[in-house]
Amino acid sequence: MNIAVIGTGYVGLVSGVCFSELGNRVICVDNNQDKVEMLNAGEVPIYEPGLQELMVANKRAGKLSFTSDIAEAIRESDIIFIAVGTPSLPNGEANLGFVEQVAIEIGTHLESYKIVVTKSTVPVGTNDRVRELIQSISTQPFDVASVPEFLREGSAVKDTLNPDRIVIGTDSERAIQALKKLHRPLTENLIVTDIRSAEMIKYASNAFLATKISFINEISNICEKVGADVTRVAEGMGYDKRIGSSFLKAGIGYGGSCFPKDTQALIQIAGQVDYDFRLLKSVVQVNQDQRFNVIRKLEEIFGTLSGRTIAIWGLAFKPDTDDVRDAPAIDIIRYLTEAGAIVKAYDPIATTNFRREVDAASIVWEETPLHAAKGADALCVLTEWKEFSQMNLMELASMMNEAIMIDGRNVYNKEQIKASGFQYYSVGRPG
Ligand code: UGA
Repeated sequence: MNIAVIGTGYVGLVSGVCFSELGNRVICVDNNQDKVEMLNAGEVPIYEPGLQELMVANKRAGKLSFTSDIAEAIRESDIIFIAVGTPSLPNGEANLGFVEQVAIEIGTHLESYKIVVTKSTVPVGTNDRVRELIQSISTQPFDVASVPEFLREGSAVKDTLNPDRIVIGTDSERAIQALKKLHRPLTENLIVTDIRSAEMIKYASNAFLATKISFINEISNICEKVGADVTRVAEGMGYDKRIGSSFLKAGIGYGGSCFPKDTQALIQIAGQVDYDFRLLKSVVQVNQDQRFNVIRKLEEIFGTLSGRTIAIWGLAFKPDTDDVRDAPAIDIIRYLTEAGAIVKAYDPIATTNFRREVDAASIVWEETPLHAAKGADALCVLTEWKEFSQMNLMELASMMNEAIMIDGRNVYNKEQIKASGFQYYSVGRPG
């Protein structure tokens, strides 16, 4: 099939590359000329395992190309995927400016029948708006569909090539057949539904996963007070098939470009139809508060943090990504510097991105985890990078001014770390 993917962000680029891997001819479009040149030179602007190799191979095979010429991409494709960003407005609502702009471009350049698919996460009703916009400009035949994306950063290629399900939301039989044919090589689980339900499935899924995280984080807070171990509690719960064992890892809360944005957007969507989504509001509040557990523990230990040297391991919102958007480390480090602490920070790949968000004279950016820990009064682990679990704990303890660790991600075995001489605080695992 001939496919155009408009927008080469996370979702667009990964989808485009994977569709070409399936044997389709894919043109990826971006209005940023520099980015297009970079992609044409075989460089990938994001850190995503396996993506570059796949991109280069499919480009070489003539199945994948990059352009800033949207008109040409529209003309030459049967299916057009809209995968542009939907950033949050100040009130949490999704900004649909880019989606609408693309719809207008499609309307302007439509010369024959196309299927226009929205992959970006968009509020319920957006596909109808896309249809209206195109129809207001063009009399050519076309159908719209919503095929939401469920990939995770860090395993995007794997998730896209092996999805749990593909949701196809459309009111057109012709679009259903074409989209089934395109996606069938990926999974048998093709869920065909109406457009609005497809749009809602994406928000409901992310909101539910965020709820699981905030739920287990609250349980962890109670575990700390009653002397239970949240990791064992989660394990015991997870064997129940109705609950499931994933997304029950207690920590310092979720971050990233999706959960924070999509939960706020769903609260707004509900609000616009006069529904107060109380549960989700609490999920968001719990998540924000959970980050400060690290601070509360430090303050309990030291009283004031002024003049203390605090080592931070992990700046990315989760391991295997250099993405720091809405990472808990942002709020935590801001608080520490404002409280007068000296921060020594290390992350294997996210430091450059992080410095664009937070930088201050009182933050020292370190090249290795041991350099960051050296001479520190306490060490806080904020992202569960694999290398942190492989450290020599005795050596680590001996380099610090005080061997105090706040493990925000339950990386370590309690007994082992205490035997190394650490005063150790983790999440929901007292004692
Ligand atoms: C998330 C969803 O998992 C994807 O299905 C979805 O497509 C994507 O958002 C999106 O909407 O585009 P992602 O943001 O890449 O993907 O990251 P996750 O792996 O889901 O992790 C999100 C956050 O939750 C991380 O900060 C992680 O540390 C935290 N988390 C996750 C926990 O604190 N505990 C857990 O048990 C699981």
